[in-house]
Amino acid sequence: MNLTPGLEGVVAAETRLSDVDGERGRLVIAGFPVERLAEEATFEDAVGLLWDGRLPDAVGRERVRAGLSEGRTAAFERHRALGDALQQADGMDALRTAVSHLTGLSPLQLVGAVGALTAAWLRTRAGQPVLAPATGAAHAADVLRIALGVEPSAATARGLDAYLVTVCDHGMNASTFAARVVASTGSDDVSAVVAAIGALKGPLHGGAPGPVLDMLDAVGTPEKAEGWLEAELVAGRRIMGMGHRIYRTRDPRAEVLERAVERLEAEGLGQRRLPLARAVERAAVGALRARHPDRPLHANVEFYTALLLDSVGLPRAAFTPTFAASRVAGWLAHVKEQRETGRLIRPASKYVGP
Ligand code: COA
Repeated sequence: MNLTPGLEGVVAAETRLSDVDGERGRLVIAGFPVERLAEEATFEDAVGLLWDGRLPDAVGRERVRAGLSEGRTAAFERHRALGDALQQADGMDALRTAVSHLTGLSPLQLVGAVGALTAAWLRTRAGQPVLAPATGAAHAADVLRIALGVEPSAATARGLDAYLVTVCDHGMNASTFAARVVASTGSDDVSAVVAAIGALKGPLHGGAPGPVLDMLDAVGTPEKAEGWLEAELVAGRRIMGMGHRIYRTRDPRAEVLERAVERLEAEGLGQRRLPLARAVERAAVGALRARHPDRPLHANVEFYTALLLDSVGLPRAAFTPTFAASRVAGWLAHVKEQRETGRLIRPASKYVGP
């Protein structure tokens, strides 16, 4: 396992789930490079892989599909008994509150439920009725359908599926660590997921893709990118979707998602924002290099997440909840792994007070 730069020599948790190599810009999920997994696997496959350590066969895939479907149905059946969760203005507030009601579900069902709750929140927010999931349907396609109220094309469903696979796990990131800390105390799955949702919500972790799209809107045209970014940096603001705690290269997931957007745009789908996004990325890398010559700052996963989720038709308010709908698979796989260690996580603190 690779360590956060500066933390070499510090004891690291062991995990079989994923490895983030920040120097070389590589991500391996349970033995598979993320590029290959996103190309060849469905979200059901990825969940099976995280759960069992190998890609599921036909029977295993069916079991995962059924579990996710049961979870979507459970969320739908309970959606009127979630207090005012679905009325929350912020999607992550809605998810955090709604998930806390979902006791008694299996981990697979809980994964399925988070996708359905994201869709239910979107519908409620738009003043539209919450839609019933289709029993046994593919998860990505069904979540899109119940979120947007229209049957997605195969290409659009594949676009969301590729996203869900790409971001399903990523080492000991902040939300995963939060989930593992809760699990390590002997607490339950729902509590671990609720804690993780709270951690993912912040703009330094999962809250960046909405602001990335706001940035592209504000820049407007490729030739304005440099001037706009310069003004932001002079004002002391961070460029959303750029920089990463571990990667010293471009985030490998940015590459995967950029390709997925490219495929959608080639089919005439999406918003055709790629030329502008690429110009903004190029200008941002240049401006950040000039300011921080010793600290490589490149595009992270959120940069092209914004484009892909926009291209499949999801509004920007749903971007971080959709991230949660994928990462919940990783969280719960880590929860299981943490429980197997039987150890309480208790980092040391160094007293610097009087
Ligand atoms: N825009 C402008 N400056 C940035 C930057 C960005 N996106 N990311 C890092 N920097 C600068 C910092 O201001 C800091 O400068 P300083 O040393 O003069 O104070 C320097 O680069 C090092 O940054 P640091 O805060 O030590 O990096 P980190 O590892 O703590 O931060 C992130 C990683 C992801 C939190 C950070 O890059 C960031 O805030 N990115 C924007 C938000 C985002 O895209 N989040 C999604 C992450 S997947």
